[in-house]
This record gives sequence, C-alpha cells and structure tokens, in this order.
Amino acid sequence: MKTKLVFTTLLAGALLGACATQPVTKEEPGLKDVLGDKFLIGTALNVWQVAGQDTAATAIVKKHFNAIVAENCMKCAEIHPTEDTYDFKDADAFVKFGEENGLTMTGHCLIWHSQLAPWFCVDEKGKNVSPEVLKQRMKDHIYTVVKRYKGKLKGWDVVNEAIMEDGSYRKSKFYQILGEEFIPLAFQYAHEADPDVELYYNDYNMHEAGKRETVVKLVKDLKARGLRIDAVGMQGHVGMDYPDMDEFEKSMVAYGNEGVKVMITEWDMSALPTVKRSANIADTVAFRKALNPYPDALPDSVSQVWNQRMGAFMDLFLKHADIMDRVTAWGVTDGDSWKNGFPVRGRKDYPLLFDREYQPKPFVTELIERLEKEKAENAAE
Ligand code: XIL
Repeated sequence: MKTKLVFTTLLAGALLGACATQPVTKEEPGLKDVLGDKFLIGTALNVWQVAGQDTAATAIVKKHFNAIVAENCMKCAEIHPTEDTYDFKDADAFVKFGEENGLTMTGHCLIWHSQLAPWFCVDEKGKNVSPEVLKQRMKDHIYTVVKRYKGKLKGWDVVNEAIMEDGSYRKSKFYQILGEEFIPLAFQYAHEADPDVELYYNDYNMHEAGKRETVVKLVKDLKARGLRIDAVGMQGHVGMDYPDMDEFEKSMVAYGNEGVKVMITEWDMSALPTVKRSANIADTVAFRKALNPYPDALPDSVSQVWNQRMGAFMDLFLKHADIMDRVTAWGVTDGDSWKNGFPVRGRKDYPLLFDREYQPKPFVTELIERLEKEKAENAAE
C-alpha cells in the first residue's frame, strides 16, 4: 500500500508541475462528503436563513449538509393559527429552498402539545372539545399540511413529545380528550394523506429507561395495527453531564431492534450548567447569573471537554450507522441556537457544530479529516 501512495504522490506532483500556471485547488470536503454514505447529515433552518438573510449560514448549509428541517414554521401555531386560516408562506419558502438546493426535507411536526394553535383543542368558551371534534380537527390539519407538501418531503415527525421519562403518557390536551388513541390516529391520518411519506415518532430524553420501554411498546402497537412508522427520532438535546452514553446507546439499539430506523433529530449539546433535564419549553426558569458563566467566550478547558464529548456521540452514531438514517443539528451556528434562551433566558450557550463566526468546531474539522483519510486509505487498498 505504501508504494502505491508514494507513486500516487509522485504522479500528483508531476501533474501539478505540468499545469503550474493553473494550480489544482481541491475544495475541502464538507460533512456530507464524508458522512454521505453512512447517514443523512442535516440541520434545522430558521426563517431568516431560508429567506437568504444570513448568507454565511446558507453557505455552511450548502457545503456541509444534505438534509434540512424547519425550526418553527411548520408547527401548528405557525401554519394553522386559527381554525379557518393556514399560513403557508414560510413553510413554502422552506420547501422551495430545499428543492432548489437538492436537500432531503423533514416536516416538523404535526401533533405536539407545544406551539399548538390555541384554538385547536378547545371550543369558543375555552372548554375541551369532544373526542369527535378533536379527531376531525386533527384529520383536517394533518390532511391539509401533509397533502400540500406531498412528494416533496422525505418524512414527517407525526407526533412529538407525547411520552414522559417514567414511561407514562404526557397529560396533554390530546391525551385528555382522546387518551393514548390520539397517536395511532395521527399516524393513520398522515398515512392517508400521503401513503409514500415516511412517518416518525419524535421525543427528547429518549435514553430514559421508562420512556424507552413505552416508545418500544408504541412502535410494536402501531405495527400490530398495520400502521406505518418508519423511524424513531431521538431529539438529542444533550448536555455535558447527561445523558449517560450507555443508556443512550441502549435506546438506539432498542428502537432499531423494532425494525425501524433511528434518527438523531435535534442534536445540540449545551456547554452550560445543567438546570433541568427537560426540553419542555414550559419549564423556562428565571435567569440567574451563576447559570451564565461564559458571557464572553467558552474557556479552552470547557471547549475541549465539549468537543471530546460531541466527538464521542458522533462515534456512537457511526458505530450504529446500519440503523441510523439521519443526524440533524438543531441550528447552524451557536448564535442561532434556542439553547441561548432555554431553559434559562438570556444565557450565552455554545451547543452547535459551528461557532458564532461561522467556523466549524474542532471536533467537526477532526471528523472530516479522519473520515477523509479513512476513505483515501480504503481507496488505495
Ligand atoms: C424550539 C425552537 O428551536 C425555538 O425557536 C422555539 O422557540 C421553541 O421550539 N423540541 C422540539 C423543537 O421538538 O421543535 C423545539 O424547537 C426544541 C425542543
């Protein structure tokens, strides 16, 4: 193999010499170039990025990612603000951006207790509607939104965050009115609206044993009823001290064993002190100075630990590439991240793959170099 490499180097040198006036500049590979044969690598986009108002972010998207998801504009409160009005402007722009750039798109999300349009589960007096009315509203919403983007999206997060860490069902309005049945109904409606689109169950803290058990049961149950479910989305909002990687891996394997793909759908890692192990946005607690220790920059010592841990997560995803369909970061750069406002408002966090200067974090650069080298070695063998 060594001889081959020397020969290739000599040959490349000779070729370069021959075209000395026109040096061959090879563009540095992006994440999608080195991960493309393993799983999709995606990012969430906000409306400013889609509108082209953040060209540096758009350049990162084009170079590094082959998949996108809308951070907010497809959620019920945004897309269906009142019973009689849909607002597709931002979602249409998102889909257009994806089509123009050849990106694989995920719809996020159809049924979720949060960012739910206030009218959805109640009557004009504010009382919960009957099961029949809610079913009809879910059906109308899901049919309208899914059909609009039929053939354009790869899949939908059909139900988001319905199970608690202890494995019980979240007592959301959907649950109060329809019981556990609201989940299979949502999957049924989504499939009726577009039989070709993939359907996902998506949630956070998916490493928790109780949640793992119920999600596994849910997948079995949907399948037993003959309903479609293609993947389980593990959001992957992680921190420096949680989750335990072994528990996270156990969940990946448990979901994969049910014959569905696994996706990391909203990957980020807060570099700040952990406040609460929850991504329930209703949990926002008062700002406290001690919880915002790096208002200027992330110290090198913390950055090193952060990069090492993110690298370890990526290695875990690569180890299970056979069941992983996609890894998506929840935002492009640190400045865009929702973690700057959650679960404590006004903190400065450093959770994403690119920093505020649009530079890749060290673990990203190292990953690209390592996988590029591995590829070259495999090709030379
Ligand atoms: C977050 C967005 O990033 C924020 O901009 C918004 O204010 C709140 O929602 N779980 C999800 C995502 O499924 O939709 C959430 O996104 C983060 C937690």
